[in-house]
Amino acid sequence: MAAAVSAALSLPSSSKSTSLPTRTSIISPDRISFKKVSSFAVQRGGSWGKGGISESPGDDRGSGEGEVPYREGQSIGVIADGVDKNGKPHKLRLYSIASSAIGDFGDSKTVSLCVKRLVYTNDQGEIVKGVCSNFLCDLKPGAEVKITGPVGKEMLMPKDPNATIIMLATGTGIAPFRSFLWKMFFEKHDDYKFNGLAWLFLGVPTSSSLLYKEEFEKMKEKNPDNMRVDFAVSREQTNEKGEKMYIQTRMAQYAEELWELLKKDNTFVYMCGLKGMEKGIDDIMVSLAAKDGIDWLDYKKQLKKAEQWNVEVY
Ligand SMILES: Cc1cc2nc3c(=O)[nH]c(=O)nc-3n(C[C@H](O)[C@H](O)[C@H](O)COP(=O)(O)OP(=O)(O)OC[C@H]3O[C@@H](n4cnc5c(N)ncnc54)[C@H](O)[C@@H]3O)c2cc1C
Ligand SMILES: NC(=O)c1ccc[n+]([C@@H]2O[C@H](COP(=O)([O-])OP(=O)(O)OC[C@H]3O[C@@H](n4cnc5c(N)ncnc54)[C@H](OP(=O)(O)O)[C@@H]3O)[C@@H](O)[C@H]2O)c1
Repeated sequence: MAAAVSAALSLPSSSKSTSLPTRTSIISPDRISFKKVSSFAVQRGGSWGKGGISESPGDDRGSGEGEVPYREGQSIGVIADGVDKNGKPHKLRLYSIASSAIGDFGDSKTVSLCVKRLVYTNDQGEIVKGVCSNFLCDLKPGAEVKITGPVGKEMLMPKDPNATIIMLATGTGIAPFRSFLWKMFFEKHDDYKFNGLAWLFLGVPTSSSLLYKEEFEKMKEKNPDNMRVDFAVSREQTNEKGEKMYIQTRMAQYAEELWELLKKDNTFVYMCGLKGMEKGIDDIMVSLAAKDGIDWLDYKKQLKKAEQWNVEVY
């Protein structure tokens, strides 16, 4: 059976971090504290393929102050221990970072991931375990993990503190949005105070897989004017027509409102998770745009160009 786990990888501190810009960031006492978090020491991995840890500051470099600085919306690569069937080291797998730049403990020394354990039955009827997800899910506290990166520009969080940010996630696609939302609502920064609207749609199969639900509810309770959360629980909920409640089915219930928001210059949409969600969301947008005589695909191109429509699906 598949299971989602949350773990914090701890990054060694480094004297190099002093060259990064300093900033005042503290974690709000309102955050949910972890009951079960595993910590893992991480080796530096500058030479592992394309995603090697950046040595020189640049646009992509994060604003955390640990040895692996990253920005909200980036991913890291993980190389599982061991070798593949050809005796070669395993290839890296990417994981979206689920913590904000300063990490869940506010000290820039950890990075949190939300990993689904992949287990499936192949055509021969054998049970197959995914290499890296099982490696991560089975790690013991204190184990060393080879990581690369950070990488990724598509999902970077908008800088505008007054933006409307619409986040569309399925399953573990929630990871980058947890990172955004912690920065918005659980932390205090001297250069960023979110005062816009953060609207999260999360699609999962069952209510037991509603990842980070308590955290999101806490954020919403404290920031009722700045946050909205809508869940789509596909195997337990249906719409009024009896159709399966996918993320796009839930969005369709707010179609007009979403379309109005999409006409604003400071609305940014982010989509992360299963590839199939993209078409489903396009389908509802096509009919909405058409009501205003707009061709959705053309409109989406413009939004993408303006970095207002950002998609990382897999
Ligand atoms: C940018 C990005 C971010 C990502 N972020 C996350 C994240 O935050 N959390 C997360 O859990 N994952 C994430 N992933 C996916 C992750 O990178 C891995 O692909 C995933 O964990 C599986 O890797 P694995 O090594 O366990 O499986 P592998 O050993 O690589 O096995 C996967 C392969 O198994 C086969 N397979 C899988 N399911 C079946 C099936 N039902 N039937 C037959 N064959 C099958 C497919 O060939 C598939 O390619 C992300 C991917 C990308 C590209
Ligand atoms: N940055 C990234 O690119 C990134 C980050 C994290 C995860 N991922 C990828 O995202 C995927 C998430 O998988 P998961 O196993 O974590 O998810 P999951 O827990 O299985 O949840 C996926 C949800 O989406 C629903 N769904 C299925 N088909 C859909 C469709 N066409 N449109 C809308 N919703 C649909 C599923 O419903 P039913 O199962 O009931 O049909 C389920 O409710 C994985 O492929 C993972 O590798 C990518």
